[in-house]
Amino acid sequence: ADGDADKGKKVFNKCKACHAVGEGAANKVGPQLNGIIGAAAGQVEGFKYSDALTEAAAGGLVWDDESLAAFLAKPKDFMKGTKMSFAGLKKEDEIENVIAYLKEF
Ligand code: HEM
Repeated sequence: ADGDADKGKKVFNKCKACHAVGEGAANKVGPQLNGIIGAAAGQVEGFKYSDALTEAAAGGLVWDDESLAAFLAKPKDFMKGTKMSFAGLKKEDEIENVIAYLKEF
């Protein structure tokens, strides 16, 4: 199903401590996320990724709807060793909605 970007904006409040999007978005605890959907993982300039994410990126990981949904559901299960300290989004609609929101940037 397609997500609802307006609802996703609220879900993104859970990400904001660590991530920014939009004009002038800068890296924080996590990389800025402009253009992240459809992008190769681990490519944000100036951000120092974990070895786990760097290896996944070298292996060709791309953040599409499917991979990002799996990552956001349980980051540390999807990517053992990631330094994204986030338990995950429990509800499938939250995941779809935040992905729809991220597609706007
Ligand atoms: C990495 C999304 C919550 C910290 C990432 C990446 C994405 C993402 C797409 C990979 C970026 C890339 O490959 O360039 C999200 C979303 C969140 C969220 C949508 C909310 C639902 C958080 C929170 C934190 C955080 C709350 C901090 C407590 C990080 C860090 C990385 C990362 C440190 C780099 C991971 C590594 O190098 O292993 N996030 N994130 N994220 N995120 Fe998040």
